[in-house]
Amino acid sequence: MEVKKAVIPAAGLGTRFLPATKAQPKEMLPIVDTPTIQYIVEEAVMSGIEDLIIVTGRHKRAIEDHFDKHLELELALERKGKHGMLETVQDISNLINVHYVRQKEAKGLGHAILCAKTFVGNEPFAVLLGDDIVRAKKPVTKQLIEAFAEKQTTVIGVQEVEDEVVHKYGIVDYSSSDEDLYKIRNLVEKPSLEEAPSNIAILGRYIITPEIFDILEDTPPGKGNEIQLTDALQTLMEQEEMYAQAFSGKRYDIGNKLGFLEATVEFALARDDIREDFKKYLIEFLQQDTDMLEEIAVAE
Ligand code: G1P
Repeated sequence: MEVKKAVIPAAGLGTRFLPATKAQPKEMLPIVDTPTIQYIVEEAVMSGIEDLIIVTGRHKRAIEDHFDKHLELELALERKGKHGMLETVQDISNLINVHYVRQKEAKGLGHAILCAKTFVGNEPFAVLLGDDIVRAKKPVTKQLIEAFAEKQTTVIGVQEVEDEVVHKYGIVDYSSSDEDLYKIRNLVEKPSLEEAPSNIAILGRYIITPEIFDILEDTPPGKGNEIQLTDALQTLMEQEEMYAQAFSGKRYDIGNKLGFLEATVEFALARDDIREDFKKYLIEFLQQDTDMLEEIAVAE
């Protein structure tokens, strides 16, 4: 079967980015000039996804508005002759047909995915988490879809992470590997370094078979007292083979401030319109002596 549907959970409170997220969803925070969720939706589109559902919560209307048409703005841009910008704005609403469902209670990632059950039906589907953005020649979701085409079973996107951050991720244990494709033996959600079976972390991209929904319905709360997708995948693995694809591409953890800043700098350097000026600024800035940098840090 082909993978044509995707689920993007976006119901979190975004507490790590307060106060910026007090009155706007964290998914709308921009990297350069583009909301983070747009990078995720674009990845889905470039991977061949045709139907998309975003699982939202309270205060998420801005996301719906972002992927909708904005006639007043389009008219204003047209009048001002700003055709390039007009095209940019129109392209967003023409990207793909986006559906929405609300997660009424914050009961965890597993529960958020369960909210998409009716939309997905009996097909394999992709999951893309908004805290992980990847710059890759071939979109990560596409890499996973290709692995799925070969194996016809659940495939999870992984990369190796440092010891210090193992406790922040779902970690996989594998029995064998065929180049970048590992056969999973076990999955643990956010283990301590001592408990972790490896350093291979689940990094926000999945292709999952629809059998997961019945399992999610019966999955009790796990780590953090939340219904964990990782726990449901562990149960699913007892019924079907499961693979982890070590995807290629640079991944940014934009769920934390440092990762967000790294993405901002590197995405800006990848942009034709600002690369040269920004590079010049960065080089000059970093050439200042350390005392000067200290002064900037304490100025105000
Ligand atoms: C979720 C998953 C975890 C995964 C991580 C990737 O955790 O539960 O298994 O490794 O995303 O970013 P969260 O970061 O939402 O707590």
